[in-house]
Amino acid sequence: MSARRVGLARAVIAAGAKLQSLALLVMRPDDLIEFSRQAYAGPLVVQDWGRPDLVAEGLYPNEEALLARCPVRSGRVLVLDVGGGREAIPLARQGFEVTGVDFVPEMVSLAVSNAAAQGVALDGLVQEISQLDVPPGLYDLVWISSRMYSSVPTRARRVAMLERVRGALRPGGCFVAMFDWDPTQRATWRGVALRRFVALATLGHVGYEPGDKLLHNAEFIHTFGDERALREEFEAGGLNVLHLDLPEGGHGGAVLQKPASAAAAQPAKESEQ
Ligand SMILES: C[S@@+](CC[C@H](N)C(=O)[O-])C[C@H]1O[C@@H](n2cnc3c(N)ncnc32)[C@H](O)[C@@H]1O
Repeated sequence: MSARRVGLARAVIAAGAKLQSLALLVMRPDDLIEFSRQAYAGPLVVQDWGRPDLVAEGLYPNEEALLARCPVRSGRVLVLDVGGGREAIPLARQGFEVTGVDFVPEMVSLAVSNAAAQGVALDGLVQEISQLDVPPGLYDLVWISSRMYSSVPTRARRVAMLERVRGALRPGGCFVAMFDWDPTQRATWRGVALRRFVALATLGHVGYEPGDKLLHNAEFIHTFGDERALREEFEAGGLNVLHLDLPEGGHGGAVLQKPASAAAAQPAKESEQ
């Protein structure tokens, strides 16, 4: 009797987890971004990303390695998803003129005050990164780490963001981008078909791509697993791939460059969806 009830409880938990995994499909791209914004705007979450010990960690070794691959050594840098300033502060210390962008105003204030407390200046902008709106050609480097390139839903929206980043860069300027990467991820055709059906039936996330998920039921993340698709996406945004860091799993990274002239651009392999 007891074993049957335990089995039933496990079945209910499994059904609950399956049902939860469908939550992502009832939201459109704007809703998915709002879903993530609400999670990050929680006071405890803001406090967590601004924790002095976390901010003091500075650039992680994989981020240092990407920066070393980047030909840009000085100038203006735009740090997307600045949080409490963990990456922005060391970049400012290295002599970059830094502007941090975040869609949570309290994160921007925290990054600015954390920087001031460490004796460096930081400008802040409250913006949603897929709608980036900054002066054209102003930046030498645009930076996004902590796998947050993956936080933008749909390839079309990410390509449009790449085009905005390219517009913000001076010719020859670079975009250092980190993303969620798992080349072992597998999607069954049944799973994909079910998800597309739920998205269509609810007029929700009809651009669903295998790899899309709500991480910890709190934020949207797209996990990449195919190098060719990734390269094609970057090139569709008009950026040349200088370097790709694709570890076994976890956070991948890319150093992308805006062509110095239109003639130097690699042809995009595929038009935007
Ligand atoms: C994972 S935290 C990383 C913070 C910081 N980069 C770090 O590594 O310490 C992500 C940050 O990006 C911001 N963020 C997430 N999605 C965003 C979006 N679409 N537009 C602007 N900011 C976003 C969040 O508010 C949060 O501050």
